Amino acid sequence: MSIVQADSLVKKYGGIAAVDGVSFSIEKGQIFGLLGPNGAGKTTTISILSTFLEPTGGEAAVDGLSVRRQAGKVREIIGFVPQEIALYPTLTALQNLKFYGKMYGLGGALLDERCRDVLELVELWERRHDNIEKFSGGMKRRINLGAGLLHGPRFLLLDEPTVGVDPQSREHIFDTIFKIRDNGATILYTSHYMEEVELLCDHIAIMDRGKVIASGTLKELLKMLGEGGVIELEVAPPGCPAGLKEKIQGQQEVTATRSEDNKLFVSSSNSARSLPPVLKVLEQSGCQISSLELYAPSLEKLFIQLTGKELRE
Ligand SMILES: Nc1ncnc2c1ncn2[C@@H]1O[C@H](COP(=O)(O)OP(=O)(O)OP(=O)(O)O)[C@@H](O)[C@H]1O
Ligand SMILES: [Mg+2]
Repeated sequence: MSIVQADSLVKKYGGIAAVDGVSFSIEKGQIFGLLGPNGAGKTTTISILSTFLEPTGGEAAVDGLSVRRQAGKVREIIGFVPQEIALYPTLTALQNLKFYGKMYGLGGALLDERCRDVLELVELWERRHDNIEKFSGGMKRRINLGAGLLHGPRFLLLDEPTVGVDPQSREHIFDTIFKIRDNGATILYTSHYMEEVELLCDHIAIMDRGKVIASGTLKELLKMLGEGGVIELEVAPPGCPAGLKEKIQGQQEVTATRSEDNKLFVSSSNSARSLPPVLKVLEQSGCQISSLELYAPSLEKLFIQLTGKELRE
């Protein structure tokens, strides 16, 4: 059953469409990833869903509630963790959380209890009386995340929650996200790190220039690249002898061959099986191999294939 439905969302700034006809649905209990490079429209999309930004066109609903007409009710059931850390540096971790809790309408013993739960969840209970300015970047991120959890939201929107954190803090954040999901919440996670969405997300939508350009489970997306992988070879002398690509193309399981300077890329539906005959062809053609790399299909490769550019700038 879906908890979020976005239909043809558009957000224009002057003549530019930051979001240009985005549609998707999120199933209850899913971790849904929105992956895309800088400026793809992730923050704009997530801001529309969390009612902080009015769309120019289209409609979205959270648990059946319209983000346009029932914004107040939507806000009661969602938690929004913004891309920019929004904490008061001269207040303690606990004071910051109490401030946010009050904004969500919590008070008294319930607020104290929720602050404790959240601080334990992000594993910073021991540091609750320290000022935020004394926290590391990763710790601030964890408190920022905690602030969005105080009222026990059913739908949590996280906008790049791991930017600028070390691997250990990232692990902490991932653990927290899995715990929240296991407690029954649905999560929308935006990132420009493909390894993160590969690891975390049940469903991934890839965005570029305001549009969703591919969507599916990781397995479904990788299938778009073929089952196999890519053999990348650096050969000397640079450039391919005439007819080499065609010869490689004819080998077992090879699906495509491309050359660039002294590099040769061989796509295969089974790279382990293709490798020996490909090496043999190169040897027979008098090519020296200076490096060889085998890689499995990845979201990065898919993104390059779909857009002709790299995900990371
Ligand atoms: N308030 C605004 N006024 C004008 N243009 C905007 C505004 N907000 C966003 N944009 C433009 O909309 C596009 C999408 O921006 P958005 O912040 O949604 O991207 P993003 O995918 O979140 O990028 P990042 O990974 O850098 O956070 C960009 O071209 C941006 O310049
Ligand atoms: Mg953003």
